[in-house]
Amino acid sequence: MIDRRAMSRKFFIALSKIKWAQPLISRLPFTRRAARRFVAGEQLFEAVEAVKSLNGSGIKASLDFLGEDTRSAKEAQTATNQLIEVLDKIQTATLKANLSVKLSQIGLTLDEEFCRQNLAKILTQAAIYNIFVRIDMEDSSLTEKTISSFEWALQNGHMNTGIVIQAYLYRSQEDIQRLGLVHAKIRLCKGAYNEPPEVAFAKKADVNANYDRLAADLLEIARNDGFPPPTPDGKTPPIPAFATHDPARIESVIQLMRLMQVPEEAIEFQLLYGIRRDLQLSLVNQGYPVRVYTPFGTQWYAYFMRRLAERPANVKFFLSNSVKR
Ligand code: FDA
Repeated sequence: MIDRRAMSRKFFIALSKIKWAQPLISRLPFTRRAARRFVAGEQLFEAVEAVKSLNGSGIKASLDFLGEDTRSAKEAQTATNQLIEVLDKIQTATLKANLSVKLSQIGLTLDEEFCRQNLAKILTQAAIYNIFVRIDMEDSSLTEKTISSFEWALQNGHMNTGIVIQAYLYRSQEDIQRLGLVHAKIRLCKGAYNEPPEVAFAKKADVNANYDRLAADLLEIARNDGFPPPTPDGKTPPIPAFATHDPARIESVIQLMRLMQVPEEAIEFQLLYGIRRDLQLSLVNQGYPVRVYTPFGTQWYAYFMRRLAERPANVKFFLSNSVKR
């Protein structure tokens, strides 16, 4: 039987990578309208307003200045400077927020050393403001390079950074153990890219089971470190962050926390801007720390395609926008 859901996922993720399709699709007015649900705006001031509104509801944010797979050193340098401007804004607007960065935006696919120097510039400026910077995880061709650049940052004294682990990868359990040794702050997500069966679980049930297993490992690591709390300014998260909208995964984390007597503030739930606002608020009302990943910028195409890939209902929503005037 054809698995339509899996095919649709593969289609939209493949589309996210096609460079020539990007300007064509992004320019369509209905695409922009539909993307707006998942993106706080194209300009920094719009993202600042969105974060202020989240903060007003007791929710912290991680700002993502959209962009990835940068093709020239000049673009990567410009992106680095723009990311530093975002840090300046978090500081001057006293936002309860930190920053998320994709290393391919600042040159990982061009030259690893160059990328690390850009990362160091961002982390140095962030440290002046005590802002934490999360390194997002991209597709599996970049997993090892991303982890080793993160380790390089820690070895070079940039302690204000953390990383992401994807539950769909077979290697993730070992990566968590490896990163636990360096007391890494880890965001656990399911994984958003097309990966071959040689490296990743193909079935949703297997990804979910691995998510629960890795969540337990992360809580154990955080316990060994004495559950370091997040900072009250909302800028630095605790060791484990559970990034998912899946109620069953969230419930499983909550059950584990009860079993292991983990204090609520020792973890963070993280969700994406524009998705399950009801769940975001319900978790806050239950007393759990919540952070919303808040993307903004003009380079929203690939991010939007991944959101369409995740949920067939989003495609219907997208198509319904195409017929509205
Ligand atoms: P799942 O896909 O099973 O969805 C569970 C439920 O959540 C759905 O039934 C639906 O109700 C809702 N939902 C999920 N996606 C939706 C969507 N697009 N639109 C509307 N509703 C939706 N990935 C990665 O590879 N690297 C990274 O660095 C990150 N970073 C990251 C940060 C944060 C804060 C989050 C929440 C997610 C990521 N991701 C990520 C994305 C992640 O890997 C994954 O693709 C999505 O979170 C969707 O998976 P869920 O865990 O939500 O479960």
